[in-house]
Amino acid sequence: MDKLKMQTPNLIDKNIEQIAKLFPNVMTETRDEAGNSKRAIDFDLLKQNLSDVLVDDEDERYRLDWPGKKASLLKANTPINKTLRPCREESVDFDNTENVYIEGDNFEVLKILQESYLGKIKMIYIDPPYNTGNDFIYKDNFKISKEEYEEEIGAVDEEGGKLFKNTDSNGRFHSDWLSMMYERLVVARDLLKDDGVVFISIDDNEVHNLRKICDEIFGEENFVANIIWEKVHTRKNSSKYFSISHDHIITYAKDKINWDRHLIPRDNTDAYKNSDNDPKGPWKPDPITAHNYYSADYIIEKPNGVKLKRPQDRYWVYSESTWKERVAKNEVIWGEGDSYPMVKRYLSEVQDGLVPITIFDRKFAGDTSMAKGELSDLLLLGALFDYPKPSLLIKRLQQITTSSNDIILDFFSGSATTAHAAMQLNAEDGGKRKFIMVQLPEQTDEKSEAYKAGYKTIAEIGKDRIRRAGKKIKEELKEKNKQLKLGEKPIDAAKLDIGFRVYKTDLTNMKDVYYHPEKLQQGQQLSFLENNIKEDRTPDDLLTQVILDLGLELNLPIEKKDILGNTVFIVQTNALVACFDNNINFEIVDEIAGLKPFKVVFKDAGFTDDKDRINVEERFKRLSPETVISVI
Ligand SMILES: C[S@@+](CC[C@H](N)C(=O)[O-])C[C@H]1O[C@@H](n2cnc3c(N)ncnc32)[C@H](O)[C@@H]1O
Repeated sequence: MDKLKMQTPNLIDKNIEQIAKLFPNVMTETRDEAGNSKRAIDFDLLKQNLSDVLVDDEDERYRLDWPGKKASLLKANTPINKTLRPCREESVDFDNTENVYIEGDNFEVLKILQESYLGKIKMIYIDPPYNTGNDFIYKDNFKISKEEYEEEIGAVDEEGGKLFKNTDSNGRFHSDWLSMMYERLVVARDLLKDDGVVFISIDDNEVHNLRKICDEIFGEENFVANIIWEKVHTRKNSSKYFSISHDHIITYAKDKINWDRHLIPRDNTDAYKNSDNDPKGPWKPDPITAHNYYSADYIIEKPNGVKLKRPQDRYWVYSESTWKERVAKNEVIWGEGDSYPMVKRYLSEVQDGLVPITIFDRKFAGDTSMAKGELSDLLLLGALFDYPKPSLLIKRLQQITTSSNDIILDFFSGSATTAHAAMQLNAEDGGKRKFIMVQLPEQTDEKSEAYKAGYKTIAEIGKDRIRRAGKKIKEELKEKNKQLKLGEKPIDAAKLDIGFRVYKTDLTNMKDVYYHPEKLQQGQQLSFLENNIKEDRTPDDLLTQVILDLGLELNLPIEKKDILGNTVFIVQTNALVACFDNNINFEIVDEIAGLKPFKVVFKDAGFTDDKDRINVEERFKRLSPETVISVI
């Protein structure tokens, strides 16, 4: 029986819960007066979350710490002056596709996507460097000031030399890797939907540390599973201790209570037949005895008079009354002589699918050799990429959590297996899942087959893989549609989205003066207006940065229209209309206002003078008062 509290509620506990929702990474534990452990807040980490300078602390507490941890939190919370530039030439079906491929460092990309995809991603799958002692990871300098850091962020691409091999002779071997993962996961968590989930492939080198930082970032109550994937079956007999045949896939939900785990579709439905035209539909024979102990002990009498006891080391599956019911309903296959009867298991009565188990064997999810095989078959070459995952494995994960229209993000995308799996699953179930792949344009080794085949970067491998996999999947779907079984519905191959928009990270389109107009000297005003955009940037570039700035998604349909001789971009009917031309006149303003856009963006330098700018506002007030007008 519950005992009444007989006192006012403990607001501290409530407040702690509120903070935990906002900043799960600041939760820790402490002991109360009686020595029992209880949840508490790590005030230093909370302070760091709210501060734009490094916070000092020296207290002991329960948490995983490493040099550079707070600096990486600071980094995760600091804005960057970078943007994405579209690359139509490398894209497939740019105007209509809803898939996105981004080339760049994933930390920068995650930050760039922060507003547009806040709370919108259903599933993140990542397969980061495992920190085996041979991986290249991004170099970070933890001892720098915020200003230096910001400068450095802008310089990463130009220097191009920030990737370094993290060998275990590095004094910060684990710390560097942890910081690299921590800052990315902190930003990535915000992108997840409330019912979203993240899957991270990892091996024994860092699984324990990764679990700890994920407990901190996602909350340990949101840990879902540590899936063991059988990556190889063969035994390496030269192994000194064990021949390692598995990887981990650690799984966290954004909020486990909200997460709706799907069942895995049954793939053994072919075993169900209807040889006797049973009105309850296809069935398969199921044994009536099992090893599991069950207390029911009765004698079964077959219609041929044979009496059967349960076998010595097995038990009846059914209680006596259920057994009698099955007999009465004629659902028993008696069999000859003294053989044990079977019962009919109807397809219509089994669950639509199977609850996933935490061991993914290679027959169910594929293995490394399958992964390499499918990649080299597609790209018609040998070993092009060292550690691809099989698309079947990623498809299984997608089946567990995604439905049509969900967005799937992979920000260590490598050969783009995740994109391949999403297109494949859409072709199988008619879904409209969309993907976002992020990959560093990491150079391939000059001696590698990939390099010789013309793939100078891993991003080039990834993009080509999507092009080829997309075509193949579409062709296979068309073939399948020609050979449908009775009752099977075709999936429209024309609607399968196998395109993708390519974007690349770059420094902002705007000149420094845009961010620091106070630095302008008197009399410079006019030239500032004309020149606040970098000379090499196109209207497409400007539109992309505006879309991101306004928090719109990158996959919205864009229409490029010529209106009265001006280039006008119309994003998702009237979500945004933008015109970056010079000498904007009232006719074009009236035409745009007539579209009644939610948001409209012009170039500041597009107006001849201040008077024009004020007039434009007046005209919108009259013609489309709801429109929010902005300039760049
Ligand atoms: C193990 S691979 C992923 C393989 C992938 N799952 C597949 O099936 O092909 C890790 C990838 O992450 C990329 N990578 C490493 N650091 C990165 C960063 N900072 N930003 C983006 N990609 C990065 C590497 O270039 C590599 O291609």
